Amino acid sequence: MHVRMFDLRVKDPNLRKDLKMSFKNILDHGIFFFGPELYKFEKKMTKHLNMKYAVGVASGSSALYLALKSLGIKKGDEVLTTPFSWIITSNAIVECGAKPVFVDIGDDYNINANLIESKITKKTKAIVPMHWGGHLCNMEKISKIAKKYNLYIVEDAAQAFGGKFKNKFAGNYSHIAAFSMNPMKCLNGFGEGGLVVTNNKKLYDKVKILRYAGTTSDPKKLITNNCVEVSLNHKMDTINAAMLLVSYKYFKKKISKLRNIREFYDKHLDKTVITQKIRKFETPGMYAYPIQVNNRDKIKSFLQRKAIETKIWNDPLISKAPAYKKYYKKDTPNALRILRKTLNIPFHEKLTIQELHYVVENINFSIRKFAK
Ligand SMILES: Cc1ncc(COP(=O)(O)O)c(C=O)c1O
Repeated sequence: MHVRMFDLRVKDPNLRKDLKMSFKNILDHGIFFFGPELYKFEKKMTKHLNMKYAVGVASGSSALYLALKSLGIKKGDEVLTTPFSWIITSNAIVECGAKPVFVDIGDDYNINANLIESKITKKTKAIVPMHWGGHLCNMEKISKIAKKYNLYIVEDAAQAFGGKFKNKFAGNYSHIAAFSMNPMKCLNGFGEGGLVVTNNKKLYDKVKILRYAGTTSDPKKLITNNCVEVSLNHKMDTINAAMLLVSYKYFKKKISKLRNIREFYDKHLDKTVITQKIRKFETPGMYAYPIQVNNRDKIKSFLQRKAIETKIWNDPLISKAPAYKKYYKKDTPNALRILRKTLNIPFHEKLTIQELHYVVENINFSIRKFAK
């Protein structure tokens, strides 16, 4: 048996049919940029997330970068964030010219809100919390701090589409938030894709301009060089928006399968395995199932021999990546500790019950053999 970490093949015959149809529609109308499907998708997203504005963009990277840009984050500014994330969380900050300041994480993999205040300086402009694996950061505490020091919050919600705390979706806890909709994400596209959401009309207008080379052109009427702020092309293709609309149709079904898989792991994995702690009143986004184990690398090799794919993510910590040498400080020990122990195990909606039993049996066996 070969168990994949992700399985991005499209097997569902109805989904295949719907995707082909959406592609055919676009070939027929020929509006490859700013087509009707893009606006329909944006509208659907505002409704789903209960937010006023959404802007479809080329990727989650574009979304986070444009969100920060729209707030005027620039050279000389400091932005607080986590070192335990995909590199883009910080690259977006640095691409704006600002300096990322790393705050250690808590045992739940997210930025430790209790450590944020100690890192605030006169230059601090914003906080970028990232909801790791779809599990929401302590946004109540982070919001209080942001208010007290007059800071912006930009949620890196790339992994958290559908995640909720007290019935409020990820994306609702900040001035502006960014989602990724690449093929691995919960609401997955079939190519690159991202979304910026906000309730602030000024930020919304700014992001729309920034996504379109910084021009005020109205794509429906006229394309002009009326560039009011230098920017590049960050548009979402109509085809990706159309395919995301199809994906959205199947989203509930996918999430419910992932929820069952999560429950299965919770119930059957050896009780010494440390899993991500989910807070009361939280429905996490279903992006990952990380486990913390002793002797992680031996367990990974054992599982590999059993043809079970696993992944180590966020290695090295962003602050230890070669391009970040000048920002590194030895003050994120928990992130280092968790990185060393964490393994991401197969987590996708196509896992069969046989595969799940096989994964659990082998993880539990390897823990008895190597981790105790
Ligand atoms: C935390 C985080 N931020 C940003 C991104 C960037 O998204 P994209 O790959 O769509 O550019 C990702 C993608 O994996 C991510 O996980």
